[in-house]
Amino acid sequence: MPSDLVIVANRLPVDRVTLPDGTPGWRRSPGGLVTAIEPVMRASNGSWIGWPGGSDAELEPFEDDGMHLVPVGLAACEIEEFYEGFSNATLWPLYHDLVAKPEFHREWWDSYVTVNRRFAERAAAESAEGATVWVHDYQLQLVPQMLRELRPDLRIGFYLHIPFPPPELFQQLPWRRQILEGLLGADLVGFQLPGAAANFVRLVRQRVGHKTHRDLVYLPDGRTVRAEAFPISIDAAGFQELAQTEAVTQRASAIREALGNPRRIFLGIDRLDYTKGIYARLRAFGELIRDGHFDVEDAVFVQVAVPSREQVEQYRILRDDIDRLVGRINGDFGRIGRPAISYLHSSYPREEMAALYRAADIMVVTPYRDGMNLVAKEYVACRYDDGGALVLSEFAGAAEELRQAWLVNPYDINGMKAALLEAHQADEKELTRRMKAMRRTISQHDVQAWADSFMSVLSETRGATHDKAVRPARRA
Ligand code: G6P
Repeated sequence: MPSDLVIVANRLPVDRVTLPDGTPGWRRSPGGLVTAIEPVMRASNGSWIGWPGGSDAELEPFEDDGMHLVPVGLAACEIEEFYEGFSNATLWPLYHDLVAKPEFHREWWDSYVTVNRRFAERAAAESAEGATVWVHDYQLQLVPQMLRELRPDLRIGFYLHIPFPPPELFQQLPWRRQILEGLLGADLVGFQLPGAAANFVRLVRQRVGHKTHRDLVYLPDGRTVRAEAFPISIDAAGFQELAQTEAVTQRASAIREALGNPRRIFLGIDRLDYTKGIYARLRAFGELIRDGHFDVEDAVFVQVAVPSREQVEQYRILRDDIDRLVGRINGDFGRIGRPAISYLHSSYPREEMAALYRAADIMVVTPYRDGMNLVAKEYVACRYDDGGALVLSEFAGAAEELRQAWLVNPYDINGMKAALLEAHQADEKELTRRMKAMRRTISQHDVQAWADSFMSVLSETRGATHDKAVRPARRA
């Protein structure tokens, strides 16, 4: 049955996996996009189109926990060229400040176009007359334009979950103009931060030659496209509720116990990604032990690294680097039953994450560049006791809202060491003051508020036209 609300994202909220007994099963997909969209989708009645992971034969649409899920398959060569290649070895590093060097390959681009067309066709088939389609993230930037050509009756929104780079970097992309035109198929293009929306509008003016005014783009056919920031969030009440359950409370004390009841637990939880600054933060912690500020008898760093994009070369290199660093720090400073770093290369269910957040005294989130970082927000949501400290990179979108965190520059190891020490030494009054303020921010701006504000601006923007006589700006 065609839907009035269709979400289109590269990933479905569940990922097809092979269970230990060899049979196929489902697991929750990794990453911030799914964390944010899932609660919104549950509250509505729409369809979710996405890739179920793997290269299985085409799966039929199915219901999962009240959501209508529509799988789109990828062939093995498309996983290589569209997903690992163009999405995650070209766009991902390019959009994250070139933390790694992006690769440009023409075959990868061709595959990106083919797969985007498949998603657009599927969205066209699933949408009722006049439906709203909300397309998500960097893997699907051509879908808005392709979909508009197929179905001009639809209201189309696009949201980018990761940063949108400044023109100086974006310009490197050989297909820059096609990407901008792809996005302009939407009525509303949403970003995490105002700077990203401004980058996009400036690029459209310079590279496509459309006339723009503030957050509006005037297309020659009379259509108006709006580009605006909508900082994403989490289901704050849901996380708090989970953190307060008896099971999570008990599990949090069991974790502290298992770690030897140290005075201070530091915690990092990230996908194992080179943008996250895991290496630098562990080095800072190791040096603090070496310098005598911490002792392994009373401080431990728990680092959860969720496996991610393991076939992409940069991710393999990172994994080896971190394995080696953790081994060295533990070898140099650990004692029997007392490692300096407790390192877990695995993904965990939400309940375990909530227990870790509650057990941790100092949460350390130090990406070199991050669209938002929902882990930082989850930590705050779980600290209903107003306790705990957050050390947060200035380069995470979340730093714009969580001003009371200890803000750090992850490229500055000494600065990071100083912030870790300060957070470690802060008295209870100081911790409470900061946490209370951050909790107020998160409870006022939860994920439902984010989705509502996007949807309400989308409904105002749809159909907005302008006088076609507006003269196009000169092409740069
Ligand atoms: C980030 C991206 C998402 C992506 C997630 C997990 O949050 O913004 O689009 O789904 O990482 O990455 P993966 O490659 O496993 O989908």
